[in-house]
Amino acid sequence: MCGIVGYIGSRNIKEFLIEGLKELEYRGYDSAGIAILQDGALHICKAVGKLENLINKCASIGHEGFGVGIGHTRWATHGKPTELNAHPHLGEFSYVVHNGIIENFKTLKEELDPDRFVSQTDTEVIVHLFERELRNHSDPFKAFEATIARLRGSFAILLITKAAPDTIFFARESSPLIVGTKGEEIFFASSDAPLIGHAQQVHYLADGEYGFARPGEVVLFHDGRRIEASYQPLTIDKELAQKGGYRFFMEKEIYEQSEVIGETLMGRVKEDRIEFEELDRTFFEGIDSITLCACGTSFHAGLTGSYLIERLAKIPARAEIASEFRYKEPLLRPNTLFVAISQSGETADTLEALKMAKRANLKTLAICNVDNSSIVRLADRTLLTRAGIEKGVASTKAFTTQVALLWMLALYLAQRELPPSTLERELQSLLHLPTALRVPPQLHERIRRLSKRYLHGHGFFFIGRDIFYPLALEGALKLKEISYLHAEGYPAGEMKHGPIALADPELFTIALMPKGLLYDKIKSNVEELSARDATICAISPTPFELADDYIPIEEQEHPMLEYFQMALVLQLLAMEIAIRLGNDVDMPRNLAKSVTVE
Ligand code: G6P
Repeated sequence: MCGIVGYIGSRNIKEFLIEGLKELEYRGYDSAGIAILQDGALHICKAVGKLENLINKCASIGHEGFGVGIGHTRWATHGKPTELNAHPHLGEFSYVVHNGIIENFKTLKEELDPDRFVSQTDTEVIVHLFERELRNHSDPFKAFEATIARLRGSFAILLITKAAPDTIFFARESSPLIVGTKGEEIFFASSDAPLIGHAQQVHYLADGEYGFARPGEVVLFHDGRRIEASYQPLTIDKELAQKGGYRFFMEKEIYEQSEVIGETLMGRVKEDRIEFEELDRTFFEGIDSITLCACGTSFHAGLTGSYLIERLAKIPARAEIASEFRYKEPLLRPNTLFVAISQSGETADTLEALKMAKRANLKTLAICNVDNSSIVRLADRTLLTRAGIEKGVASTKAFTTQVALLWMLALYLAQRELPPSTLERELQSLLHLPTALRVPPQLHERIRRLSKRYLHGHGFFFIGRDIFYPLALEGALKLKEISYLHAEGYPAGEMKHGPIALADPELFTIALMPKGLLYDKIKSNVEELSARDATICAISPTPFELADDYIPIEEQEHPMLEYFQMALVLQLLAMEIAIRLGNDVDMPRNLAKSVTVE
């Protein structure tokens, strides 16, 4: 998840840019860079990996005195994490940093001289377009305005150029950008943290705002008209700033899911197919079964994936808990693809299971959130989930991005055989995920209010069928991780084979009742529980008359969209219950984010 900083003024500019990027490190990145324009000369420095690498490389650039500068941390989406793909991107005499995605970059690139392009990114088109516009408009701001008018997609942009050596040009569309001032000094950043302790007042740019800044002056436009900035004082709490105004990292990460799922899909969901630049068909040649192996929440994603792969791609698929897999003396047949799923890429059991698969000469694929982690380095191929750093110990956005990726993988394996109309429906549903994962304020408020009724009792059953069974497991895990209440996930049809003996009013049943998949079956399972006086909380697009409580989700075209909306509900429910119980939601007792020991 990329980060941006910018500065105009006379303090040590390199130091400010690097310190600012450090404040954005928590967002995750795989390369970084800065560019400084001082005394009419442009200096640039970029490095792959940690900021330390950048600091070592840029020792000789920048000096005391007035200058303008921009900096960026990049989390690779278009093109690999290489130095050439790192920002700032350069033209002949201008540099740009950008967060977001320029959707029409291919069309724009065709208009420009392809020989000028050195990176695989969409961003580079901005700087070349700007320099071309500068030939038509002698005023650099007019050239910048004409440039951003051509861009489609989402962006936060900072651009510096020798054509205006004391100026930063900036623009925002659906990607955060803040401008701050202190006397003559001007600061930019994509979130508050780098500005704290520096800027006296800040203006949060709204979508469609753009302009230019010079010492002591920020000139703001919207739709071609000049507008006034609405400055406000800056919060001084850094951790609060990193949490983006949310109470907990977990809450922030729940809300981020809509955005990061967009990143997961980006460049992979095409009009008529799924494409992975990391994989080609030949990798799957000869594969006749798939084993998905993981721990904790990642296992629940894997279990969901096993349903999707079998159903869509008709390839036998099973999910295995890594700590069990290691010692069950599994039959490792050479035609099995081994898929290791892990947020951190460091979980000891999953890593060891992967090593077993490697020793048995199986083809291996990692589904992982952290590039260069041990699991990624070991697997033959990797699909990155692109969720950005996940800080909350209870996994949320890592889970939904894993499931989205497994859904895409299932379709990738199935797409040659699927009827075009089915494939189209699947692809359209995938593209709807960012919308389905937005948190409606009234939904969160309803869950918050309901949560007060679930702080006691002798336990929770989360029940679901089909893909909603792994989701029930995940809902129960979320709740127990952070509320410390006893919760179990169960396949709804199994309740009558034992667990229903526990049914009484103090047994809370969270029933996942999708409209689009086995509704009547789950309904009769819930009726059985209700008849025995269990307290029922139904999550469904349809109100259920026997439910004591009801949390509505939207009607959806595809059961997977119901799945993702329910995932959101379960995460919020667990969090609100834990908050009411006064627990530390981000750092629950006895748990670790990354379990690197057996
Ligand atoms: C720990 C975390 C869980 C996570 C599990 C697997 O238990 O607390 O949230 O699901 O490890 O971690 P991984 O990084 O491999 O997905």
